[in-house]
Amino acid sequence: LSKITPEWVRTRKEVGEKIAALTAYDFPTARLLDEAGVPVLLVGDSLAMVVLGYPDTLSLRLDELLSHLCAVARAKPRALVVADFPFGTYRTPEEALVTGKLLVEAGAEAVKLEGGVEESATIRELVKAGIPVMAHIGLLPQSAGRRFRKVGRSPEERESILSDALAVEGAGAFSVVIEAADAGLAAEITQNLRIPTIGIGSGTGCDGQILVFHDLVGLFPWFRPRFVEPKADLARAIREAARLFLSETQGKEHVASDR
Ligand code: KIV
Ligand code: NA
Repeated sequence: LSKITPEWVRTRKEVGEKIAALTAYDFPTARLLDEAGVPVLLVGDSLAMVVLGYPDTLSLRLDELLSHLCAVARAKPRALVVADFPFGTYRTPEEALVTGKLLVEAGAEAVKLEGGVEESATIRELVKAGIPVMAHIGLLPQSAGRRFRKVGRSPEERESILSDALAVEGAGAFSVVIEAADAGLAAEITQNLRIPTIGIGSGTGCDGQILVFHDLVGLFPWFRPRFVEPKADLARAIREAARLFLSETQGKEHVASDR
């Protein structure tokens, strides 16, 4: 099996194969997901919330993301390793180039940043410098605050998200994540682009789907997006293993609260 490349991802659309992508933030997870055959691993800035305990993605520092990116890269996956630009690390095309090079040095084989029309110059610069870009449009958590809502329902929003999609394709992105967009709009964008769309909470009409690993396996039970059907309940498995250890070690049954 050969290494997955951005070009492989891009051409799935022509081949007519759906793309499955998951986030990964550490060595064992990257290795397990790679062994399972997941072709795209995103070191997302969701790291901030599901691993580091921040209330949103804005607080994530570049050095924190780089540390987790290095861990994922050490798994030497066949999967394509994509890394998010943390908030405030790509305010100008020049800054994006500096950050992009750091991400690549840490093991990113492609990068992802949030924004459409407004980021198209930055995307163009990165691509020109040989750094493949996965774009991200629709709901943009780095600028949306903590209000996660469906976007693209009003005619104005549809128009602006469609322009974003065309702008990132024109700027040279090899694929585009569409987050929390109206399903009809996501399907329409998918039909209008040559690059693959990778949806999250945007219906089934995209060329691929991406999920946060912790949502897939039920490892962050305190917040569960409505569109996710967890395939495991790792939170429960961990609590049970800990309680077994407690009763083995301390010799009494423990009644703990799941909060
Ligand atoms: O950071 C992340 O996990 C993401 C995906 C949800 C697309 O950007
Ligand atoms: Na992200």
